Amino acid sequence: PPPTVALPAGDKAARWAALRALVLGDAVCLAQVRPGKKVVLGVGSLDAKIMFVGEAPGAEEEIQGEPFVGPAGQLLTKMIQAMGVKREDVYIGNIMNWRPEMPTSPGATQIGNRPPTEEEMRYCLPYLRAQIEIVNPELLVALGSTAAQGLLGFGTFKTLGEVRSRWREFGGKPLMVTYHPSYILRDGSNRSKRAIWEDLLKVMERAALPVSEKQRGYFLNK
Ligand code: URA
Repeated sequence: PPPTVALPAGDKAARWAALRALVLGDAVCLAQVRPGKKVVLGVGSLDAKIMFVGEAPGAEEEIQGEPFVGPAGQLLTKMIQAMGVKREDVYIGNIMNWRPEMPTSPGATQIGNRPPTEEEMRYCLPYLRAQIEIVNPELLVALGSTAAQGLLGFGTFKTLGEVRSRWREFGGKPLMVTYHPSYILRDGSNRSKRAIWEDLLKVMERAALPVSEKQRGYFLNK
């Protein structure tokens, strides 16, 4: 069964530290990571206005113990900077606290990524909810369909196109669903960059961030 998270009273830093200890010490999470690899909690400003939510740690993330530090993460950092914001001023979390792994061949020690199962996501969701409760951001951005499934509910949509680029809600907070940055890594077209950027422009407007003419025109007609 998913964990029940009881956060202590105190300021955000104290509550986050308590949550971190809970998650990093969670026996279920620990049982999923291979020796030397890490359980991963979100990172960033506890006063962030904007919280990004991804899917799950990947190879680099489970080594460093920080979300979005591999190739997709480097692109996410650039996207955040294009919004005129620093990575350390937002909060970045994942649905999952461990890297869902599968052997690439029976008995292999090298492991591939796979999407988390519904059961795995349900297990980790209370930890994401606790991070949202502590940070209390103004709005949430779900990156890709796994994150959107986790936040909007399983089976609530078939394709990402049905839910992206419009405001939704999670726990009383506005939620924008957009593509996962790994989609841009696979399909580097200006069209897909523009699509994700239009979603982020909506996020900037809703968060009352300034939007310059130059920013408005990114990835147009190239
Ligand atoms: N992809 C994700 O969804 N999250 C990460 O932390 C890294 C890659």
